[in-house]
Amino acid sequence: MLSGPTGEVPGVAGGGPVHRAITAEVSRVRDRTPERAPRVLDVGGGSGAWAVPLARLGCAVTVVDYSPNALAALHRRARDAGVHELVTPVQGDVDALADVAPAGGADLVLGHGLLEVVDDAAAALAALTAATVRGGAVSVLVAGRFAAVLSRTLAGRLGEARAVLTDPDGRFGPDDALRRRLDAAALRALVEASGDLQVEVLQGDGVLEGWTPGSVRDGGPATVREVTELENLAAAATPLLDVAARLHALARRR
Ligand SMILES: C[S@@+](CC[C@H](N)C(=O)[O-])C[C@H]1O[C@@H](n2cnc3c(N)ncnc32)[C@H](O)[C@@H]1O
Repeated sequence: MLSGPTGEVPGVAGGGPVHRAITAEVSRVRDRTPERAPRVLDVGGGSGAWAVPLARLGCAVTVVDYSPNALAALHRRARDAGVHELVTPVQGDVDALADVAPAGGADLVLGHGLLEVVDDAAAALAALTAATVRGGAVSVLVAGRFAAVLSRTLAGRLGEARAVLTDPDGRFGPDDALRRRLDAAALRALVEASGDLQVEVLQGDGVLEGWTPGSVRDGGPATVREVTELENLAAAATPLLDVAARLHALARRR
């Protein structure tokens, strides 16, 4: 049986398209400034799903999150991975990011799973941009609208599917935990609206993975590799990328 993406689940992690774009950006920073560790700021970084792997790559990662529980989990995870010296947890809100993160202080700023939960996505994006050095990159990962329409349709929740499709913010109603879901065009427009950022990568995260039957996904390393390769190909394929569970943009600060 096929299980559709929910729109809220993470896509392929290590080896997936987002991972590849991020590691390519880290390599770029290293080439430019080999004398120091790449400086990463992970806003809404939670328990470190991205921060800890980036620290393992040798980045100095500051995680800003307003949840003390998430930061405690991050601390444990970083310690267990032996990279706690490279990870700095900071309790803070993206609305007041300038209070805890210096302007232009990071080579790479992540806002993964953040824009769909904040009140004002444009203001959050402006804060992420201000924290990025000129020539550095902002990476945002946000819930996809059309995956949520498909998954709700397949589940027979047609009213919700219709609402997600037609609501200006892609929400199914007041009980929706997310403030918005985006499609690829809306994400590009949001990221480039201020004129300070130029999108270099726009791709899907979890395009086909969620549709792969469990029996196939459990098929061993060769099958996992095959699914990952297929996912990497689909990530940039229009219109497939627009039905990804999450959409990813990596943008350069002018
Ligand atoms: C969906 S999780 C994403 C975690 C991680 N970035 C990832 O991709 O796995 C969203 C995180 O953003 C944090 N968050 C939500 N609103 C925030 C805000 N206004 N300022 C700082 N952190 C926030 C939450 O506490 C949570 O840890």
